[in-house]
Amino acid sequence: MSKNNSTDDDPIKIFLDWYLEAQTGMGSRFTKNRVISTGTHLLRRMLSAVSPWANLFRPDIATLATISPESRPSARSVLFKGLVEGGFSFYTDYESDKGKELEINPSAVMVFYWHFPPRQVRIDGKVCKLSRKAAENDWKSRTRENQTASLALRQSSIIRGRDELVEKANYAKLLYRGKPIPCPDSWGGYRLVPYKIEFWEGRFDWLHHREKYLLNNGCWEKVYLAP
Ligand SMILES: Cc1cc2nc3c(=O)[nH]c(=O)nc-3n(C[C@H](O)[C@H](O)[C@H](O)COP(=O)(O)O)c2cc1C
Repeated sequence: MSKNNSTDDDPIKIFLDWYLEAQTGMGSRFTKNRVISTGTHLLRRMLSAVSPWANLFRPDIATLATISPESRPSARSVLFKGLVEGGFSFYTDYESDKGKELEINPSAVMVFYWHFPPRQVRIDGKVCKLSRKAAENDWKSRTRENQTASLALRQSSIIRGRDELVEKANYAKLLYRGKPIPCPDSWGGYRLVPYKIEFWEGRFDWLHHREKYLLNNGCWEKVYLAP
């Protein structure tokens, strides 16, 4: 492993560049060729029309790992909602399992994987809650169906089955017919403030590229890692 003491590299900026490239499919060394770039772009658009859930076209999907009260790892997908004061934000139900876990232990890891080009970013840090105002703005940005589903039942609670979910969602729909659906007190955001960010980029020759940035006295230090 070689160490580079240069603090010129800013991992937040690298993340933003990679995130933009994952969103647009443009700019990477794989898509510098105009024909490949246009072809990739068209393929993405076609496939996203067929399957809007395909995570090829949802670079905002990240795996969030937390630690359970029994010190076991606990992971699930969340939607990344942008950088807030240097932290990686997402929204959830504070009373969900992850919310309870983060209340006890704010340490978390977020992992992004993007297909074109093959890249992974791993962010280790501690979460801080976002403001109530931010929660309300996020709530307003959601569709009514999404709000009804989130309001109907506390996330991660054990339910009788789908019938209970449908019943409670229908009740919430009736209750707020013609009215805005209020943001529940337990709805809110977090920002994951990083102390470590690792980048992995796949190469055709299997000599994949890995760089790890560690925060040391307010400065990012970079080391290279064997793949
Ligand atoms: C693609 C995808 C995106 C998701 N985004 C979110 C999200 O942004 N916030 C959230 O609370 N749950 C999200 N979920 C649901 C979570 O993965 C998870 O099932 C839920 O939050 C409950 O997790 P917990 O019981 O560990 O708290 C998403 C699931 C998928 C498959």
